[in-house]
Amino acid sequence: MVKESFLTFDGKLVDKNFKCNSFANETLKLMFTRSSVRDFLPKKVPEDILRSIIEAGLHSPSAGNLQPYSIIRVEDEERKRLLAELCLQKFISSAPVLLVFCIDFHRLERWSKLCNTPFTAHKSFRHFWVAFIDVSICAQSICVAAESVGLGSVYIGTIIESADKVKDILALPEKVFPVILLCLGYPRSRPLPQKKLGYNIIVSSEVYHEPSDEELLKAFSEKYDRINVKVTEERLKVAEEVCRNLFGEDEAKSIVEKIRSSGKFNPAQYYFLLHYRADIMCKGNDVFVKMLEKAGLNFLKE
Ligand SMILES: Cc1cc2nc3c(=O)[nH]c(=O)nc-3n(C[C@H](O)[C@H](O)[C@H](O)COP(=O)(O)O)c2cc1C
Repeated sequence: MVKESFLTFDGKLVDKNFKCNSFANETLKLMFTRSSVRDFLPKKVPEDILRSIIEAGLHSPSAGNLQPYSIIRVEDEERKRLLAELCLQKFISSAPVLLVFCIDFHRLERWSKLCNTPFTAHKSFRHFWVAFIDVSICAQSICVAAESVGLGSVYIGTIIESADKVKDILALPEKVFPVILLCLGYPRSRPLPQKKLGYNIIVSSEVYHEPSDEELLKAFSEKYDRINVKVTEERLKVAEEVCRNLFGEDEAKSIVEKIRSSGKFNPAQYYFLLHYRADIMCKGNDVFVKMLEKAGLNFLKE
């Protein structure tokens, strides 16, 4: 028997002549058409709507159902400005609501003490790992719920750069550590959905599949076909410095010459030479470890 309709890879429902009727359902439509929003209307998010999307997020899965996290809701203009400054991105303060997602072992510790129970989760890598996953799942559930009521959002990862100062602004107690900030509000404009690596690259059947070099390059070129970073002397200088720091003078000169003669930076070079500098990103890990320790999360020392 011929099926009347099919679900395509991009969530659309097509009839037997492959005519597209609609997305298979509203949830799939929302997930395929979403994009991060960085341009918000100065319009307040009604309290009942905000409450309902946050509460929806609190229904997310959580390891052992412990929910080792807190969410700090920030709407005060001055506090938003300070957070935007610390996160090094000005637009953040234009979002009507900021949600700061934190790992929180403080609440569980208090509860354990009140119940005459030993507590060591803040000294446990296993607990830290799972708390990080829990808080991320909760944040993403809130994003999906937000989209479903017409709100837009964008995560801000740079909050980690100043986690200790964020603690002061938000009066976070010991053992509470900010993980990610989410800007929320009604979009004034929304970018087109970004291209993603597809199913055949990300998903393997049963065991890990290694694509050929050609397949891999093709997948990334298709994903980043809108990235066009022209060669400038300033960019070449940065690229040379990164390569020199990692590979030495000769290799640096040779890579830079290749970039110069191709006339542009390819997307991998854009990402790891200019945007997330490969020489800088692998340094200073101890600063983050120290911030965690200072916050009372000292699972790296027995
Ligand atoms: C953990 C994390 C950190 C992010 N940090 C930032 C950020 O600091 N600033 C920003 O503008 N976007 C940030 N984003 C948003 C990404 O840039 C965005 O998701 C990516 O470009 C893909 O675009 P899309 O969300 O529209 O699909 C972050 C996203 C994640 C998941």
